Amino acid sequence: TMINHMLGNITLSIIKPDAVQKGYVIPILYKIVHAGFHIIAIKMIKLSKKSATNFYTEHKKKLFFESLVNFMSSGPIISLILEKKNAVKDFRILIGETNPIHAKKGTIRNLYATSLKENAIHGSDSNKNAIKECSFYFSNKEIFFKKICN
Ligand code: PPS
Repeated sequence: TMINHMLGNITLSIIKPDAVQKGYVIPILYKIVHAGFHIIAIKMIKLSKKSATNFYTEHKKKLFFESLVNFMSSGPIISLILEKKNAVKDFRILIGETNPIHAKKGTIRNLYATSLKENAIHGSDSNKNAIKECSFYFSNKEIFFKKICN
């Protein structure tokens, strides 16, 4: 399929409920596009507890799991598929460390996150997970691939 063919060049991002609620969607999108990522899919949705549980299923044994699921289903989010060479790695550099206390100056989490839970944004952690996560949020018809040129 087309999406599998993009392995290595796409990542899935979520602007989390805290950042949406605070009005940071546009500033965050600006930073993403300015860093050379192409938005090839985008939607605003509210996850049910059930779908948040499914999305984060690999973390179900973690102590923070219930808190994470409750938070991620607490309000609208923006889901994005971003295309760029080395998208997963480069995007994780752009967003910074999970805990905003440790996020480098100028990263999205440094600028917009307030805690380990309310950390503003998600980025896929591997190329394989990126494909899986993109398929979780988007059907093929909702993804608009472009040639990679960077
Ligand atoms: S781990 O243990 O390394 O796999 O976890 P990590 O990658 O750091 O985090 C996985 C996701 O869980 C979120 N997280 C938390 N949410 C609420 N409370 C606490 N304490 C907490 N710790 C981690 C973290 O933001 C990650 O979310 P995503 O959406 O994947 O970025």
